Amino acid sequence: MESFDYIVFGGTGDLALRKLYPAFYHRLREGEFPHDARVLAISRKPLAREEFLARVEAGLKRAAQDGFEAGSFRAFAERLFHVTLDAGVPGASWDALEEMLRGRGDGIRVFYLATAPRLFQIIAENISAQGLAAPRARIVLEKPIGSSLASARAINDGVGAIFDESAIYRVDHYLGKETVQNLMALRFANSLFEPLWSAHAVDHIQITVSETVGVEGRGAYYDDVGALRDMVQNHLLQLLCLTAMEPPVDFDADCVRDEKLKVLRALRPITGDAVRAKTVRGQYRRGAAEGAAARGYAEEDDVPGDSRTETFCAIKAEIGNWRWAGVPFYLRTGKRLPVRASEIVVTFKPVMHSIFQPGAGRLEANRLVIRLQPDEGIKLDLMTKEPGLGSMRIKPATLNLSFADRFKSRTPDAYERLLMDVVRGNQTLFMRRDEVEAAWRWVEPILEAWERGDEAPAGYASGSWGPSAAVALVERDGRSWSEELP
Ligand code: BG6
Repeated sequence: MESFDYIVFGGTGDLALRKLYPAFYHRLREGEFPHDARVLAISRKPLAREEFLARVEAGLKRAAQDGFEAGSFRAFAERLFHVTLDAGVPGASWDALEEMLRGRGDGIRVFYLATAPRLFQIIAENISAQGLAAPRARIVLEKPIGSSLASARAINDGVGAIFDESAIYRVDHYLGKETVQNLMALRFANSLFEPLWSAHAVDHIQITVSETVGVEGRGAYYDDVGALRDMVQNHLLQLLCLTAMEPPVDFDADCVRDEKLKVLRALRPITGDAVRAKTVRGQYRRGAAEGAAARGYAEEDDVPGDSRTETFCAIKAEIGNWRWAGVPFYLRTGKRLPVRASEIVVTFKPVMHSIFQPGAGRLEANRLVIRLQPDEGIKLDLMTKEPGLGSMRIKPATLNLSFADRFKSRTPDAYERLLMDVVRGNQTLFMRRDEVEAAWRWVEPILEAWERGDEAPAGYASGSWGPSAAVALVERDGRSWSEELP
């Protein structure tokens, strides 16, 4: 690993404390930090070093997966610096950062913008105006990239005027998850699935990302965004792309991203009346839980009482290409649902003709369940003969591969891989400009129709599976949501 300086804007914010510093800490523990690599945390308000380190330590203790270790934290703290600077304004407040970066030679310099997207362009401009956009500098943009196609384009143009596309890393942290990468291994390192991976053999696919948490003190951010922008435009569409894309020529960043882009372009637009028929949105109401978890969305801090922001959505998506014509992809995500679980379920077509007696048992369709989190693993539902000497009886049974049992190693957090991939210069797990824009292009008519209509999102009780219309969306097609999830 080459040496680097990571400069984190939003350096005392939620993402940095919850995800970025714990990820750096783990990489340092595992020996991936060169001896002079540094992390410089930028924030506008001055902060004493002890106070800063205390916040980082508290975040680490909450996040450390296999325990917090004081010695490693001390080693990490020696590489970690807080710098006060107003990133939105060029001028003297940048002096301290310039001073710290002076004399670092041609090492890798990464500017990580863990800030609101409206600041992306201005920070990029100020980095350049201060002469810090060195030849080997890279810039990392956290999702959401804008809030619409036009705003995403403006950000991409603005940042692109300063940094070359090859130096811009757009994070969708789902791509850094081990199991999401495993999806590519499953599809392209096995010959078993590819002949079946199309409309010939697949009946439909479900992608569910369900969360038990509410908005977790992020009401002000979330109320402007909602589930479609927060989760579908990026995470769920990326999962859909990896599930549906053609085999890339190789694992090179652009080969993979070219194939994902083709899927996004092939998504059938959902516009006009189809929005009502193919999408469902909901907002959580009071549930049975105790304390703050019982609150309805509109009672959360910083959320207006008459908010129409969706905290749940379900969509029937269709991909108009030869491989997937006629195969629905049902997408579903929401907050305050009964379980935390992300799953891709591929349901295959039923056998064309049963040779067994009617009394032998019902033949159920084969299903491949890819569990992304938690309890990462892969299950395959098959039909088998029930053991015994009587007449032939057929029963479903499941082949179960649990990654925790099989590999026994710690699953690194998505950010650990992504942070280091930026240093390595590997763009495979980052979104290219055209992908982000294609995703907005598909999502935008849905958003517009929701905003134009006078219907509010349907209420659902906290702790339930969303509004009943989401069940109807799938049942209308004679199907049902995976019962794998309780
Ligand atoms: C983020 C969203 O991108 O992903 C959050 O902004 C959401 O609202 C989070 O909670 C989910 O990520 P994970 O890794 O916990 O599934």
